[in-house]
Amino acid sequence: RPQPGEVALFSVSSYACQRRTTLDNHNSNLTDALSLLAENAELSNEDGRGVAFRRAAALLKALPTQVISMSQLRGLPCLGEHSLRVIKDVLENGVSSEVESTKQSKRYKALKILTGIFGVGAKTADRWIREGIYNLEQLRDSGQTLNRAQKAGLEHYDDLNEPVTKAEADAIGEIVQKAVNSVLPGSEVALTGGFRRGKLTGHDVDFLITHPEEGKEVGLMPKVVAWLESQGFLLYQKTTRNSYLESKDGPARPASNMDRFERCFSIFKLTKRKEQESTQPEEQNDLKTEDVLRPHMQADTDQQLCELSKNYQMEAASHKIWRAVRVDLVVSPISQFAFAVLGWTGSKLFERELRRWAGHEKNMSLSSHALFDNTQNKYLRATSEEEIFAYLGLEYIPPSERNA
Ligand code: CTP
Ligand code: MN
Ligand code: MN
Ligand code: MN
Repeated sequence: RPQPGEVALFSVSSYACQRRTTLDNHNSNLTDALSLLAENAELSNEDGRGVAFRRAAALLKALPTQVISMSQLRGLPCLGEHSLRVIKDVLENGVSSEVESTKQSKRYKALKILTGIFGVGAKTADRWIREGIYNLEQLRDSGQTLNRAQKAGLEHYDDLNEPVTKAEADAIGEIVQKAVNSVLPGSEVALTGGFRRGKLTGHDVDFLITHPEEGKEVGLMPKVVAWLESQGFLLYQKTTRNSYLESKDGPARPASNMDRFERCFSIFKLTKRKEQESTQPEEQNDLKTEDVLRPHMQADTDQQLCELSKNYQMEAASHKIWRAVRVDLVVSPISQFAFAVLGWTGSKLFERELRRWAGHEKNMSLSSHALFDNTQNKYLRATSEEEIFAYLGLEYIPPSERNA
């Protein structure tokens, strides 16, 4: 394929679910530019443009080496006119003028700040911007009515915009495991989302919960949530019940890509551990036993103890001994577990491409609940992700290579 004296051309499949995409990205200069434009399109409710930029970025993520010239891209799928223009700009000038002007725009900056609030989507942010609200201060001053999620999002804004580390994800995993085992012994917890794909940080932590005996998982979420709440682990939670059974359009043909599992969007209160604390000396977070005991050791009277305790509480608050972390919990019956794990592992584009492959190439409908073969008019049972890939006629791609 490569001509003598020419740089090697790449050969890449057009569906992201046919490709192995690790976190080792050789073209982040290009994919960062395209991802920002994708994000801007999504935040502006231009989903078509968003997907086009996401597909282009995903293709570049899968290339084995760095692209240095436009000629290397000849014949590659997924690269539309607009994306090619952006890539050319970055290759020739180091930056894309469209990306730079987007980053500087008042609207993009405001959309980023406002949708950084948990519970605020593109639509709400857009409405606020049209009302002249561009930042958190203006939002607070505006007297806008916020829902419960948005109130919590605003209250924990800084924490929730700080990336979650793998160590924090593991610490939360232990808590969830303990909660689940306490209310239903034998239950299983699986880490899904970006952390299952090997990412070192994430915007949240995703867990899937099941029980090996079908039906035992029914009603599990409210019990888990009650346990977590009683232990003081939750700052916010909203549980949605399973609506799968009562749905009319069939499990594999959801009205949207949203699944119907019993789920809980939550904000955890995670106590900082020593190894998770900031390394900066001025942000010393650790409280020693002597600090905790200090009020008791120093107080002569109850009133004095009360005063000293209050001081201690304020001190503890300023030391930030805990932080807020977004956590998604989902409960799946064991019969749907393989589909749920596949659906909740991501990346979002990889999932979208799997569904597109299933529909366009295999005449099948894939959801996080099931796989339906429209030709044979039947559901295809699976107990592992490997089986689902096999039904779809795809080579198995492990989670660490689904980072499209
Ligand atoms: N997902 C879903 N339904 C939702 C939200 C998410 O099926 N309502 C799926 C997504 O398709 C994705 C996975 O859950 O495959 C994880 O979503 P998310 O946490 O948003 O993304 P991550 O890949 O985990 O990335 P991050 O590190 O930013 O959390
Ligand atoms: Mn490599
Ligand atoms: Mn996630
Ligand atoms: Mn999530």
